[in-house]
Amino acid sequence: MKILRTIGDVRDAVRAARAQGHRVGLVPTMGAFHDGHLALMRHARAHNELVVVSLFVNPTQFGQGEDLSSYPRDEARDAALAEQQGVDILFAPEPAEIYPDGFATSIHVSGLTDVLDGAARGPHHFDGVATVVTKLLGIVRPDTAYFGQKDAQQVLVVRRVVRDLNLDVRIEALPTVREADGLAMSSRNVYLDADARRQAAALNGALSAASDLFASGERDAEAILAAARRVLADADVTPEYLELRSATDLRTLDRVDEDALLAVAVAARVGAARLIDNHLLKGAG
Ligand code: PAF
Repeated sequence: MKILRTIGDVRDAVRAARAQGHRVGLVPTMGAFHDGHLALMRHARAHNELVVVSLFVNPTQFGQGEDLSSYPRDEARDAALAEQQGVDILFAPEPAEIYPDGFATSIHVSGLTDVLDGAARGPHHFDGVATVVTKLLGIVRPDTAYFGQKDAQQVLVVRRVVRDLNLDVRIEALPTVREADGLAMSSRNVYLDADARRQAAALNGALSAASDLFASGERDAEAILAAARRVLADADVTPEYLELRSATDLRTLDRVDEDALLAVAVAARVGAARLIDNHLLKGAG
């Protein structure tokens, strides 16, 4: 596996692979790899001849008071893990390579970013994500880019950018990878102490209660949300949000009775960590 730091070097490597007719897969990451990242890398490996993983803790998607400076960073560990998954190129640029002096462009996706994490973290968050992902897609020009479904809103935002800007790339989202007790894997789980770790399991517990009620035939959004709310309250977790929205455009739903994908999303601060999770409620009606 090669570790590359410059846009020029990545472009040369991708160009050489393309000249041989190779398919190119990109897994954008901020490092601190867990099994969710590794599953994306293995999936990319199985479907492409060249697999590029970007490792860049993107400063523009963090707000004031968020965890940019403390975000877990261990490039040597990440590089070893990526290599074990058969990754060809780890693109690990310095911030100035991505945001040189004079950088002045920002991608804003309206509507989709006004709610859930966009409302909770502020508009800078998804502007930062959309801008850096657009840059990474422009640098690597992959056939397919792979994301985790845990960040369901991020996936919707990226898909919208790709559609609206006619970017020639396929976006594939892979299922959330979970710990044995259901906690969604996240780089931020390292912030959890033992008590917080126990509480954190309530996020998936709450979503599972909502999913179970939906599966038993309940279609009233408030009733479904109430089931989730009870599990969080029992675990003493105060959600930042707990909402039931269309999985295609994030509009709110009073009833879950259309034949569509539906997302229940919850974000909560547990101990020092801000955690998010979601379930898709499929095929209503
Ligand atoms: O999901 C992440 O790790 C980041 O938001 C991403 C997509 C790599 C952009 O910085």
